[in-house]
Amino acid sequence: MVFARKHLAECGSTNTEALAHLRDGGGPLLVSASRQTAGRGRLGRAWLTEQAGDDAALTFSIALPLPAALDLSGLSLAVGCTVADVLDPAGRRIQLKWPNDLFLDGAKLGGILIETVPLPADQRGVVIGIGLNLRPLPEGADREAFASGHAALQTLDPAATAAATLDRLAPALRGMLADFETLGFAPWQAAFARRDLAGGQRVRVGEQAGTARGVSERGELLLETAAGLLPCSGGELSLRLEKPL
Ligand code: BTN
Repeated sequence: MVFARKHLAECGSTNTEALAHLRDGGGPLLVSASRQTAGRGRLGRAWLTEQAGDDAALTFSIALPLPAALDLSGLSLAVGCTVADVLDPAGRRIQLKWPNDLFLDGAKLGGILIETVPLPADQRGVVIGIGLNLRPLPEGADREAFASGHAALQTLDPAATAAATLDRLAPALRGMLADFETLGFAPWQAAFARRDLAGGQRVRVGEQAGTARGVSERGELLLETAAGLLPCSGGELSLRLEKPL
């Protein structure tokens, strides 16, 4: 699979650009932006980046027309594993919080937002949006705005720029997507387990409380409750640790 590449100095949201591209009948595209004015996160939240100049953050989206029948369960986890393995191959500092968050040293480094759009001829447009903080917040920044904390890739790799980071991630994501199309999430189950931030901890998923026990072959969170092991799907749910990091 080959992606066309497009870079915008500014846009509302690269996910919105990618969705419009697919609605217009476009093929695989990676669209990045130096600045988003209306970045979106999961569950209707805003995605905020510190906007002073290039290289404060990396924001991009991949647009793909895929067969409508393809099961997308676990896609955000496979994306998270791929990003984490590229940026932290030793696997010591970047962790994943089901279903879509990347954490570095216990604070949020980035997030993944997957959106879909129906297309003709049994196809479905899939957009994978990824946002990563590159530069630490400046003195006096409003840290309260970042509910899960704010971590920056430059504390792991001081030379990280948006362009260089994207050049490292793009080929790995391309390979991952080709494998996901044929194999689904199962090959990433063990990789997720190595970086599972919540594994073994007391958590809340929606209204349910329990202990996080990893993920299934379809990427469902396995929640141990008094009633047994409950598989939870990512769509509208998010996970909260009962004991903050
Ligand atoms: C989350 O943490 O809830 C997901 C955040 C996803 C942010 C990225 S930035 C690039 C793409 N464009 C958006 O508007 N959102 C995603």
